[in-house]
Amino acid sequence: MSRIKDSSVRDVVAAADIVDVVSQRTALRKRGARYTGRCPFHEERTPSFSVNATDKLYYCFGCHRGGDVLRFVQEVENLDFVGAVEWLADRFRVPVEYEEVSPAAEQARQRRERLYQALEQATTFFERHLWEPDASAPVREYLAGRGLREEIAKEFRLGLSPGRGLVAKARERGFTLDELRAVGLANVRGNDYFSYRLIFPLADARGRVIGFQARRLREDDPLRGKYVNSPEGDLFKKSAVLYGLHLARQAVARQDRAAVVEGNTDVIALRQAGFEPVVAAMGTALTEAHVRELGRLTKRLYLCFDADAAGQDATLRGMELAVRQGFDVKVVTLPPGLDPADAPEGFDERLTGAESYLHYRVRIEIERAADRQEAFVRAREVLAAAEDSPERQEAVRLLADRLDLPRETLTGLAPSSGAARGAAPAPEQPPRLLAAGERLERDALAACVAHEALRRQLEALSSDHLDDELHRRFRAVLVDGAPEDGELTALRAELDARAERDAIDERTGTELLLRLRERKLRRDLHGADLARATELQAHLAKVRQALGDLA
Ligand code: UTP
Ligand code: MN
Repeated sequence: MSRIKDSSVRDVVAAADIVDVVSQRTALRKRGARYTGRCPFHEERTPSFSVNATDKLYYCFGCHRGGDVLRFVQEVENLDFVGAVEWLADRFRVPVEYEEVSPAAEQARQRRERLYQALEQATTFFERHLWEPDASAPVREYLAGRGLREEIAKEFRLGLSPGRGLVAKARERGFTLDELRAVGLANVRGNDYFSYRLIFPLADARGRVIGFQARRLREDDPLRGKYVNSPEGDLFKKSAVLYGLHLARQAVARQDRAAVVEGNTDVIALRQAGFEPVVAAMGTALTEAHVRELGRLTKRLYLCFDADAAGQDATLRGMELAVRQGFDVKVVTLPPGLDPADAPEGFDERLTGAESYLHYRVRIEIERAADRQEAFVRAREVLAAAEDSPERQEAVRLLADRLDLPRETLTGLAPSSGAARGAAPAPEQPPRLLAAGERLERDALAACVAHEALRRQLEALSSDHLDDELHRRFRAVLVDGAPEDGELTALRAELDARAERDAIDERTGTELLLRLRERKLRRDLHGADLARATELQAHLAKVRQALGDLA
């Protein structure tokens, strides 16, 4: 990875106009010192997106996304940090300088770049073969037969591998056999890797092609599998790819939901039918990498399975992975033999009828169990891990119905207070439900962000005055100029927007900081011996006096 010099990053940020950048995505209106508009990350009618033009920060009170101008570009343009700096540099005409890199690192970078180029050119090669007038008419008919129109096939860059000619062509263009093997375009014998097959390019989150899936078209295909994938290499890791993610990103973030289906064709057909927040998991269960990637865009997943796949262990494991990470998981079980691609129009309605994870899980345990007793034990285990919720109550009702349980048994299924072991964490709390203490800390820090003069008073407090670890780290940023990471920048953006919205003035800030002092003194008093207690009482009296003076 090439590294941009810190001084260049500062220059770029200094030159960037966040209002200009955000305005490309959503209309902003000036309101006082800041700008507001509808959030570009989620659907909304009333504006809750706030931009601070001076400090170049954004924050959405609806979906809680926030950060600085670099974060914004990373999110909407789907770039990494370096990419975002380069994007802004380009736009605001700032030259950037790179750190000197070792020759070995530079060589590795160039090789990667060439591998991407080889894949890109192969994609074009396959595309050309699919759309060239005569040779591939049967394949285009196949697509038409599956209801896929030319336009959508082109958007997904579908192609046709003729089975030979690609390696020769690429070598003519200067790619070495070693490079072509490294990206899985040539086999060990140096021939084309893919036989005569329909090609689905696989893209990374940015849309760069990293590999292919090739679907069988002919009965006499020498390879058995319906799909042949590119071999794994430096660029292609099967378990990390979500088919269609680069096209679905925007819709997933805006609609705050993602449907995960099984087949690539399903993704294409659904998008064609106007349903965009959809990806496929390459025929595998959800992996850590999938969950991480999706979690950057939404916490609401609809997992769609064919009735056969639905109860499989791998499927359940993938699902649990997401539930444990705090995702709201819903399950859509499709009638056997019916892919989403077969009925794309009614898909959104199917989602409305989706089952909650708990309901689904209890149902599966009942269906898989050998007898009633086993079903009960298994289902109880699942329920024990979950906190009370309408979904849980519904799952309990399902169990009672299916097993015809007497009422006494049901009370045994009431949620335990400490449903902690392996329990699904409750979804993120909306801020208005924040514990009072946490809110006090947050508001006090918001005041310090808005009013420089208060930082002295914050400095006089120790980090023990704050309970929340993130808040402590943020205090260090304000007081000691500690370096700020992405998480802290997001917090700063939020506090900055909050201070403005809630009109936290300097006097209020002073009061909030005094309250933090008061809280700490009260806590210390609990464990103090007599001498110390007297001392603390005196402090406390002073703090209360000061609070009284303010009122
Ligand atoms: P499906 O068999 O449902 O494929 O496998 P599909 O995409 O719906 O194919 P059509 O409808 O027959 O054209 C689901 C996914 O599993 C992966 C592919 O990603 C496929 O889209 N898969 C399947 C493989 O990787 N290898 C296989 O041999 C089969
Ligand atoms: Mn299918």
